[in-house]
Amino acid sequence: MSANIHIPQFPEPYWRDSVNLSTFPQLQESVKTDVGIVGGGITGITAAYLLAEEGLDVTLIDAGVFLNGTTGHTTAKITAQHGLIYDEFSRHFGVEKASMYYQANMEAKQLIENLIDQHEIKCNYQQEDAFVYATSEQYQEKLETEKKAYDDLGISGEFTNSIPLGLSVKGALRMDNQAQFHPLKYLKTIVKEAEKNGAAFYENTTAVDVEYNKHPAIVTRNGQRITCRYVIQASHYPFYDGQGFYPTRMYAERAYVIATKTPKKFPGGIYINAESPSRSIRSAQMDGKEMWLFAGENHKTGQGQSTMEHYDALQQFAEEKFGISEYMYRWSAQDLTTLDKMPYIGPVTGGENSVFVATGFRKWGMTNGTIAARIITDRILKKENPYSELYSPSRFQADPAIRKFVRTNADVGKHLIKGKLEYTNNNIDELTPDSAITTRINGMRAGVYMDKEKNLYAVDTTCKHLGCETHWNSGDRTWDCPCHGSRYSYTGEVLNGPANEPLNKVDINKK
Ligand code: FES
Repeated sequence: MSANIHIPQFPEPYWRDSVNLSTFPQLQESVKTDVGIVGGGITGITAAYLLAEEGLDVTLIDAGVFLNGTTGHTTAKITAQHGLIYDEFSRHFGVEKASMYYQANMEAKQLIENLIDQHEIKCNYQQEDAFVYATSEQYQEKLETEKKAYDDLGISGEFTNSIPLGLSVKGALRMDNQAQFHPLKYLKTIVKEAEKNGAAFYENTTAVDVEYNKHPAIVTRNGQRITCRYVIQASHYPFYDGQGFYPTRMYAERAYVIATKTPKKFPGGIYINAESPSRSIRSAQMDGKEMWLFAGENHKTGQGQSTMEHYDALQQFAEEKFGISEYMYRWSAQDLTTLDKMPYIGPVTGGENSVFVATGFRKWGMTNGTIAARIITDRILKKENPYSELYSPSRFQADPAIRKFVRTNADVGKHLIKGKLEYTNNNIDELTPDSAITTRINGMRAGVYMDKEKNLYAVDTTCKHLGCETHWNSGDRTWDCPCHGSRYSYTGEVLNGPANEPLNKVDINKK
C-alpha cells in the first residue's frame, strides 16, 4: 500500500463530522405522552415526525446521542436493491410477498423524496441507478436467476455486461431509479420539523424495561417512567423482548466503510458486488468535492480478525482498482439480520397491541427504517397498511429459518462457553499506548485498555446481556460481544444493544 497515504487514526463517519446536530437534555422526570419512542435513528425520528404531524404527543429518547447508531454509520443508499434477494424471497415467501418487499422499499424512497421536497432539505439527494455485479461465473448465473425474479416481479432493471465504474465484471444487474443522500442533513431537518409539531426529545436516557399497568410505561435506567399508549422500539436491538426471543432470531454483523479521494471521476451509480467479501461503492460530496465510499468486509460482531485488517482490505481494494489520492475517513457499522432476512416490524409479540418493534434491517435501513416508521404509525393511527403482515415479527416460516435458528443458537452457546474457558493472563506491564489486553484481576477476567496518554481503563469483559465474553476490537477501540452483538466503549459504556447496562468497572489497583 502507498506509504504516503495517511490513515485516519480514529474511526469517525463523514456524516457526523459534516453536520452540526442539535443536542437534547437528559430526561429528568417521569412524563406522560401518547407515544414513547426509543432510539434516535432514522426509524424513531421518522416515526416521531409522522406521529407529531398527526397531532399526537410524542416523546423520543436515546441512550446516547441522536444519529450516532447505525443511521450515523450507514452508506446511506436509498434502494430496493438489497444484494441478491428477490429470487430467494420469491421462493421463500412467494412472488406476491417478494413483490411487496420491493414496493415497500420503493414507497419508503418516495416518502423520503416527498419530505425532501416539502421541507426543501438540502441533503445531496441524487437519483442513481443501482448495480449488483458479479466477478465470477458462478455468481453470473445467480445474477441471471435474480434477473428472472425481477421480470416476474415487474422490477425495472436490466442485465448488463459492464458497469459504469469500469471494473472487469462477468455481468451486472441494474435496478433503475434508486438514490443516495447525506442521511444526517436530511434527518436534522426532520428532527426540527417534528419539534415544531411538539415532539419532545431526550438524549443520554437509557430505556431498560417496559412495565404494564393500565398503560405501558418505558422505564429508564435512572428510574423515570414514560407512561404512554404506545411504545415504539426503534433502538436497533429491542431493549424489551416481551418473550419474543429476539436474541435467538437475529444475529449482528459489522461492516466497514472508508472514504477516500481518487484520481478518477466517479461515473455515477451505486454498486455492490454479489460475492464475498462484500464491496459496496458510492460517491459523496464533501464541500463540493467528490469522495468515494468503499464499504464491506462484513463479519459477525466479535468474531472477525483484527478489525484494522478489514479497513486495510478495503483500502487495498480501493487502491488496486481506482487509486487513492487521499484517505479521509473510516468507520464501521452494526447491522442485524433476521432468520429469514425479512425485517421484524410490528407488535413485539403476537397479540400485543401497544408495544412495537422495528429491527433486523440487514444493512438496508434507510428504506426499511422509513417504511417501518410508516407501518407502525399507520397501526397507531388505526389505518390499514399493505405491508404490515409481510414484516410481522410473529410470522412463522419453517424453511429455512428453523435450520438457521438452530445454527445461530449453537453458535451463541459455543461462544458462551469458549469465552469462559479461555485462559487469559496477559501482563498489564506489557501494554503499549492505544492497545488492550485481557487479563485476570482478582481472579476475574478483565479487559484493560491503555490510551495514548497511558491512562488505563479496566472493565469486566462479561457482557451484560446474557453473559458471553466480549472481545477487543482494535479498529474501533471497543469491547464487542460475539453472541448478539452488544458493543461497549473502552470505558464500558453501551454503544450497541441488546445490553442496556455498562460493563462493570474493575479496580486495577487491586490486582
Ligand atoms: Fe447477548 Fe452479549 S449480546 S450475551
